[in-house]
Amino acid sequence: MPFNAKEREDIAHIWGKACGQAEALGAEVFDRLFKSCPATKTYFSKFNLEAGSADLKRQGGKILNAVGVATKHLDDLDSAFSQLSELHAFKLRVDPGNFDLLCHNILVVLAIHFPEDFTPAAHSAWDKFLASVSVTLCSKYR
Ligand code: HEM
Repeated sequence: MPFNAKEREDIAHIWGKACGQAEALGAEVFDRLFKSCPATKTYFSKFNLEAGSADLKRQGGKILNAVGVATKHLDDLDSAFSQLSELHAFKLRVDPGNFDLLCHNILVVLAIHFPEDFTPAAHSAWDKFLASVSVTLCSKYR
């Protein structure tokens, strides 16, 4: 789905604020995901799932930095996420429904941490962007 100039600006602006705290924000995303959707914990059985643990910070940093890469590939998400979608589909075997759950929690954490920047237009742009990320990561399941 194409992004207009304002959407691109809102996506880049909020990522510019979030990128310096990817691990802390990502850990919070996972804490919210595990508390709101406990079944998602089953994929991380080897991790310490306590809020703010080193495992959650490391994994949270990985997913948010991958989202950060995606903010710079809005027109070619498929190729940017090709390896990651194969990893999740064929090796990790993550059920596709979980991507929307994670993306929703990313949205909530961004809204909480950047309330001034999270305008209705930015909300809409990030919702559209994360939905595209989710669809792309699920593309190998078809
Ligand atoms: C690993 C990104 C959604 C489960 C990873 C890695 C990245 C990543 C970058 C590390 C890959 C590597 O080390 O080569 C993302 C992004 C997501 C997403 C951008 C969506 C926005 C999910 C969801 C689940 C999940 C929804 C399951 C609920 C896992 C697991 C690993 C992993 C189990 C391996 C962890 C380990 O044992 O080190 N993901 N992921 N991911 N992801 Fe995702």
